[in-house]
Amino acid sequence: MTDRKDPAKSSSKDPAPAEKGAGSAKQSMGGPSAKPRAARPKRSLLERAATALGSGTSSDDAGVRNLAAADRLDAKVDATEALVAAIPENVNKPAEYALRGKVPQPPQGATAKPENLDATASTITESNESEKNGAKAAPGENLNQGPLQKHRADSLGRALTTNQGVPVGDNQNSLRAGLRGPTLLEDFILREKITHFDHERIPERVVHARGSGAHGYFECTEDITALTKAAPFAKVGKRTPVFVRFSTVAGERGSADTVRDTRGFAVKFYTDEGNWDLVGNNMPIFFIQDPMKFPDVVHAVKPEPHHQMPQASSAHDTFWDFISLMPESTHHIMWQMSDRAIPRSFRTMQGFGVHTFRLVNEAGQATLVKFHWTPVLGTHSLDWDEAVKIAGADPDFHRRDLWEAIEGGAFPEYLLQIQTFTEEEAEKWSFDVLDPTKIVPEELVPLRTVGRLVLNRNPDNFFAETEQVAFCTQHVVPGIDFTNDPLLQGRNFSYLDTQLSRLGGPNFHEIPINTPVAQIHNNQRDGFHRQTINRGRVNYEPNSLAGGCPFQAGARGFASVAERLLAQQASTEPTKLRGKPEKFADHYTQARLFWASQTPIEREHIARAFRFELTRVQTQAIRERVVRMIRNVDEALAA
Ligand code: HEM
Repeated sequence: MTDRKDPAKSSSKDPAPAEKGAGSAKQSMGGPSAKPRAARPKRSLLERAATALGSGTSSDDAGVRNLAAADRLDAKVDATEALVAAIPENVNKPAEYALRGKVPQPPQGATAKPENLDATASTITESNESEKNGAKAAPGENLNQGPLQKHRADSLGRALTTNQGVPVGDNQNSLRAGLRGPTLLEDFILREKITHFDHERIPERVVHARGSGAHGYFECTEDITALTKAAPFAKVGKRTPVFVRFSTVAGERGSADTVRDTRGFAVKFYTDEGNWDLVGNNMPIFFIQDPMKFPDVVHAVKPEPHHQMPQASSAHDTFWDFISLMPESTHHIMWQMSDRAIPRSFRTMQGFGVHTFRLVNEAGQATLVKFHWTPVLGTHSLDWDEAVKIAGADPDFHRRDLWEAIEGGAFPEYLLQIQTFTEEEAEKWSFDVLDPTKIVPEELVPLRTVGRLVLNRNPDNFFAETEQVAFCTQHVVPGIDFTNDPLLQGRNFSYLDTQLSRLGGPNFHEIPINTPVAQIHNNQRDGFHRQTINRGRVNYEPNSLAGGCPFQAGARGFASVAERLLAQQASTEPTKLRGKPEKFADHYTQARLFWASQTPIEREHIARAFRFELTRVQTQAIRERVVRMIRNVDEALAA
């Protein structure tokens, strides 16, 4: 194997400043090969590095090897001294403080380039290559990432092996003490196979357990660089790879597709500035206003804890008990009882970011935004009778439709549309844009198409990709930022936390489907199932031993928008409190707007859905409470 291009070899810089001679006070690198330095002729740092970087260290002759190693270690010490000396102090420290009222502006971290790459190496033996070791890490590159192809496997023409690569001679019979005797503990082939099988299931997602995924791309179709510097919108025509997972919320992993439920519409953009996840639903609003209520709404809709019924259905007492005590859920319930809750296919389903987010441009100016995905095929639903029959005849109806459409070349396509508005505009509206139970009506802010999403490749393996993908609302990139929507703030905590246990530890970002296409370089190491083999002895920042790397990005990095919405807070209001703003208290205006937007047949469907659900509720008082709730939307509907 040939060495990679090494800056130390091609450098024309005079290494003299780092050269201090054999007698200088240097840290000993130890080891039997470190001969007294005075015994060797003094040579320049570059010369010694050149010897060391040659193949000498892998010589069969121990004497040659020791000499080369001693020389090389010597050069490493000098190069390290030079590198560390190049960063004499932490010059960026003052920029961390708000001095004389100036807001801190994080600068890029201080860095220095090693004159000899051994200075930042974990070991000088890294150049002893082998079929397993391969070449040493290329400067600044994390090869653990990259296109998924290096993770794909195909067994054509290959014999069966164990997980250690040992050929399996007999895959039919376990090892026994005699043909009619007991099985031997020694049978590592049987034990490995059964042990793997025993652990093949991981916990399903606590919500959205049932899902189907596809690869594709997002293409920017309109220049919105005045609004955002986010990488997917950098240029009209730019394509960003994506992975999308559609899901139901309540049902377990094996439940039917066509149940009445909200659907997840989660998009992972693998941008060149890191992953951006837009983790949305097919309805533009949500049941609750505060994350404190999320476990409650999920407990209420999931199968009742005493007998685990019903599966993937909201038609039971606990759900309607909770909902009828939560007037803020009225708007979402209207959508949930509508045809929107039984989409015809994932291809004909809208998606919404739900929360108000922020777009941020190069100048750091922020604009409030709502995200919409609009299917090019139009939005279509099933009729309830169809949905019920299909659930029995083909529980995988949506998964199959998505798979077959992509396999057949009918690639699902959606437009990305945005509504953008300023904080000043939002302040004038009767509803609060931080309230996730409210839409921004299109009459107030029309939709603007800015891109398209095309799903053009099915996954190779459901478990490796669709099951192990980890979406998270806090995955944002420069150019996208959060607002104070309390539900969004709660979600930002929840996803990483749940994935730590679902995917078995803090390194699930290294599972191939979750790895960004942008390079990962930080000092987070260790933990279960670590894949990356980091080079060097430095795992902290600031440092000088690794030339300051990886250094903080400063202005190029993600920076949170300075909050303006705080300005709305009355000066008399305590700064720490539990509660909701007054505008959050209007639970019915938009529920009525939704009802008004429905055609007569759609209204009939909603009434029918309420009837079906409530006839499954056994407690009369809960039914009555729901009817009282519906009266706030429409008397005729409640009648
Ligand atoms: C405080 C409110 C919420 C909390 C605490 C919460 C929490 C969770 C959790 C724990 C998961 C499972 C994640 C996993 O195991 O990978 C999940 C999945 C999901 N959530 Fe939420 N969620 C909340 C609200 C919402 C809202 C408002 C939306 C829609 C805008 C949403 C959309 C999704 C989607 C689409 C998934 C499935 C992602 C996938 O396909 O893997 N959630 N949520």
